[in-house]
Amino acid sequence: MFKHKRQYYSDGRLKHLLTIEGLSKAHMQAIFDSAKNISTHQFSPERAHLNSVVATLFYEPSTRTRTTFEIAAQKLQAHVVNLSVPTSSALKGETLRDTVQNLAAMQTNVIILRHSSSGAAHFVAEQVPNSISVINAGDGCHAHPTQALLDMYTIQQKFKDFSQLSVAIIGDVYHSRVARSQIHALTTLGVPDIRVIAPKTLLPAELSSLGVTIYPDLQTGLNNVDVILLLRLQQERMQSGKLPIGDNYYRHYGLTEKTLRYAKPTAIVMHPGPMNRGVEIQSEIADGPSALILEQVTNGIAVRMAVIDMLIKNQRGSP
Ligand code: CP
Repeated sequence: MFKHKRQYYSDGRLKHLLTIEGLSKAHMQAIFDSAKNISTHQFSPERAHLNSVVATLFYEPSTRTRTTFEIAAQKLQAHVVNLSVPTSSALKGETLRDTVQNLAAMQTNVIILRHSSSGAAHFVAEQVPNSISVINAGDGCHAHPTQALLDMYTIQQKFKDFSQLSVAIIGDVYHSRVARSQIHALTTLGVPDIRVIAPKTLLPAELSSLGVTIYPDLQTGLNNVDVILLLRLQQERMQSGKLPIGDNYYRHYGLTEKTLRYAKPTAIVMHPGPMNRGVEIQSEIADGPSALILEQVTNGIAVRMAVIDMLIKNQRGSP
């Protein structure tokens, strides 16, 4: 959709992290290896970025992504600036372009952006000087690359071999930047069986070109799967008519103690958050032994540390 070549230096190293599309298996594995090393050893002088400035710029609400990026940057000993958009000059009409150019003038090294417009992170990457890396923390319905990376990292902790897995994504794929990034990541990592389970109205047109199999119901779609990736029903992005089954969503697509039995007994359940309990997931499942939902959040710190560390190091040797 957007040019993913923009996120690399001419020698192939990562300059920005804008999308999972086009990100190589080697790049992903390097991030997972670094995250594992970070989780094991916590502090390493090689990962101290004392003079670097990392700015978070969130035009949409966030609990997990903004906070774990902040913790990640702090653990890397960078200076962290959380620009509060609701109290910033954006409210006086300052444009996104002017805001990021001001962050650049403050000698920021990394800008972490969340925005409601698909393509916003690519736009910002075009506006900033060469000395700045941009990380997409979610843009519209397009991409949420660090969410997909932490999800894949969490799966790899449980199952060593992606080439043996059946993975089902359930829910509102139409509005989901997470699902799009997960599908690209699963495909690149070699998952042979990627399923999407959703009502027709919540399936985007481009899905057929992404190599996934679409299932209309949980009973057939969850049969024998290893990994269940739930999505939030994005009621705030829902145009009228997109959800004709309304309150019946939970009855048809909710993951409950009954419907989880369609999957393998060892299946793991993941959700990027925030969850709608009683809409896409039963509380007993969200809090039960199959769920890795809070492990995902914890893994987000190490994965985001690995990404920030990689981008800052790449800036030093940039061509
Ligand atoms: N998964 C995710 O993006 O959560 P937040 O909106 O809380 O950051």
